[in-house]
Amino acid sequence: NRHLISAGDLTKDDALLILDTAEELARVSERSIKKLPTLRGRTVVNLFFEDSTRTRISFEAAAKRLSADVINFSAKGSSVSKGESLKDTALTLEAMGADAVVIRHGASGAPHRLANWVHGSVVNAGDGTHEHPTQALLDAFSMRRRLGSLEGRKVTIVGDVLHSRVARSNVLLLDTLGADVTLVAPPTLLPVSVGSWPCEVSYDLDAVLPKSDVVMMLRVQKERMNAAYFPSEREYSRRYGLDRDRFAKMPEDAIVMHPGPMNRGMEIAAEVADSARSTIVEQVANGVTIRMAVLYLLLGGESA
Ligand code: CP
Repeated sequence: NRHLISAGDLTKDDALLILDTAEELARVSERSIKKLPTLRGRTVVNLFFEDSTRTRISFEAAAKRLSADVINFSAKGSSVSKGESLKDTALTLEAMGADAVVIRHGASGAPHRLANWVHGSVVNAGDGTHEHPTQALLDAFSMRRRLGSLEGRKVTIVGDVLHSRVARSNVLLLDTLGADVTLVAPPTLLPVSVGSWPCEVSYDLDAVLPKSDVVMMLRVQKERMNAAYFPSEREYSRRYGLDRDRFAKMPEDAIVMHPGPMNRGMEIAAEVADSARSTIVEQVANGVTIRMAVLYLLLGGESA
């Protein structure tokens, strides 16, 4: 593939190639080799129309560790505020010689459109409520590093699925990798299309926790929330939050994940987020490695 737009576009072999490449790159950086010459002379543009901490910084770090030139574009402070369209913005950046464009955008489908306008590779860094494929890849990589093969693993994804591009990408990728996914959410925070997703759905978190190898908590996306879907923070936390008592119901070797940013005290208690069984900080570090693998395979190595 020339682009990475949806986790659903990846075959099992594609996904395993990315995870295995990331594993090799992690071994290289464990040998204190900070920088590889692989993408010298290539230009990666980070095109961010929505806020980001982890994804933007880790794509920048990943490109720099592969010796690519990086141009960081943030819609705030750009000519987007004067009404310039996505297409004109993209063509302007392409005129500056982008080999890859990493795009985060509030509109679902924006990366797909962009791929029709630019010659370089397009990487989806999160589009609206649609997909966030590199997040799913770094999550799978983090699970694999802790638990080994994902085949037959029980992964429970909890919370605001309706607004979550992370949930959709994870369900698609984890299904491809042979894991069994259960979504747990209030009925109002599930998309109507969930019946066609390759996963189970439950409304009873306490019943699912003891059978889980992985519990992935989702951020409640207040900025996208319609108040009608969300009764109160206290009620949400009581029914769907991962607090100390619920954490105790998980098997002893099960892990806790969260893509970040977290609402500590709402979907996840601080002591759970900071526990030794939480992979939240590892997920951030693994994000750089996975994004190195994706850029390497799209721009420098074998086709992903
Ligand atoms: N997980 C994630 O996408 O975080 P950012 O919004 O900070 O990039």
